[in-house]
Amino acid sequence: MSELARLAIAAREKAFAPYSGFLVGAAVETLDGAVYTGCNIENASYGLTVCAERVAIWKAISEGVKPGEFRRIAVAADSARPTPPCGACRQILAEFAPHATVTLINLQGVTREFTVAELLPESFNASFLR
Ligand code: THU
Repeated sequence: MSELARLAIAAREKAFAPYSGFLVGAAVETLDGAVYTGCNIENASYGLTVCAERVAIWKAISEGVKPGEFRRIAVAADSARPTPPCGACRQILAEFAPHATVTLINLQGVTREFTVAELLPESFNASFLR
């Protein structure tokens, strides 16, 4: 298991998920090797919940990482099949981490790997706005 996957599993322990009981962790690595982690954070107003992937990306962006500077993201959850990012997170990944590889891992160590383009083909992105 990669160090990034281990960090995603550790980040999962920090999840605030009292409503779903479903804990998720994420870890992103930038091109220069910096790592930012995230966990899902739920709210009693359920729709305000943010996924682990987005928390990790937002932490990196808020520390000065720019779109396109992400190399890898690992996502960890306790599911029989490794949990894939939701549709909203795929859109965020397409904008901020279009060239990243996405490693999904469960607590048994089962992993699956995708590119962001595989997860969200034909994505809407900033190039259409020009
Ligand atoms: N969740 C994530 O954090 N990432 C995913 O990839 C899938 C779903 C969270 C959102 C919510 O807190 C809980 O898992 C159940 O949907």
